Amino acid sequence: MQDCTSVIDGKAFAADLRRRVATHVARLKADHDITPGLAVVLVGADPASEVYVRNKGIQTREAGMTGFEHRLPDTTSQDDLMALIAQLNADAAVHGILVQLPLPAHLDAGAVINAIDPSKDVDGFHVLNVGLLATGQKSMVPCTPLGCLLMLRDRLGDLSGLNAVVVGRSNIVGKPMAQLLLGESCTVTIAHSRTRDLPAVCRSADILVAAVGRPRMIQGDWIKPGATVIDVGINRISDGDRTRLVGDVDFDTAARVAGAITPVPGGVGPMTIACLLANTVTACCRANGLPEPADLTASQRDA
Ligand code: GUN
Repeated sequence: MQDCTSVIDGKAFAADLRRRVATHVARLKADHDITPGLAVVLVGADPASEVYVRNKGIQTREAGMTGFEHRLPDTTSQDDLMALIAQLNADAAVHGILVQLPLPAHLDAGAVINAIDPSKDVDGFHVLNVGLLATGQKSMVPCTPLGCLLMLRDRLGDLSGLNAVVVGRSNIVGKPMAQLLLGESCTVTIAHSRTRDLPAVCRSADILVAAVGRPRMIQGDWIKPGATVIDVGINRISDGDRTRLVGDVDFDTAARVAGAITPVPGGVGPMTIACLLANTVTACCRANGLPEPADLTASQRDA
């Protein structure tokens, strides 16, 4: 099947990024007696969120950073959550704050995110960071699109002039991904569920990023031969009496056509937490007036 396609090993790539993060953490400790700290806030007991938060805690500590976990009941009021954010904003040992989404429906997630000190917003979701990214200024970059960009740069080197199609227009992935690719001088199209002749639009892509949340929607005959395909989708489907994870791309048909493709699982997924750790180191360096590690950020081309 995958004669001329390479499968991009996100697991190995993320492990390598985590090693680089740990090296920077060790250097911050040795040279400046500073330990980056990441606070994660989980409200309620959503099982998938529990898993993510546990993994974030484990990987934070493995990288040598301090992890602060705040688990609040799903009856938590907006005022109590805002008070916790204010406390974390004021805590000098906390360089990054992440509020796990989704929040219970009675809470105003936008107000909570925008209450986070933008310099500690390691998710890059605060409106100030969204605006800075959109205007090409130094910001905190959302973790999943940052992970995709680092893999694309590793695979392709200079991205300038390439046609990039991002399928999906979410605030968390699609829109920031498009901004990052524009920053790399790609010609960027954002496609979505209402796009006319989506297969033809996808076929124009040298870089195709699928972040639409529909299992195996993108077929092999939607892909330009040799294109680089990044599959952000994580969809749980039932397969007989079991469930399994598939992406937004139909891997088996796509892998026959693409030049390179990320699998699901083991592609983009592992990069998200690794980039969260990288963003925390970046936030810590900025907070202490130290040069930020160019190999961990989206701005290394400008460095
Ligand atoms: N829930 C699912 N993905 C994410 C993410 O990237 N950040 C936060 N805060 N919550 C999430």
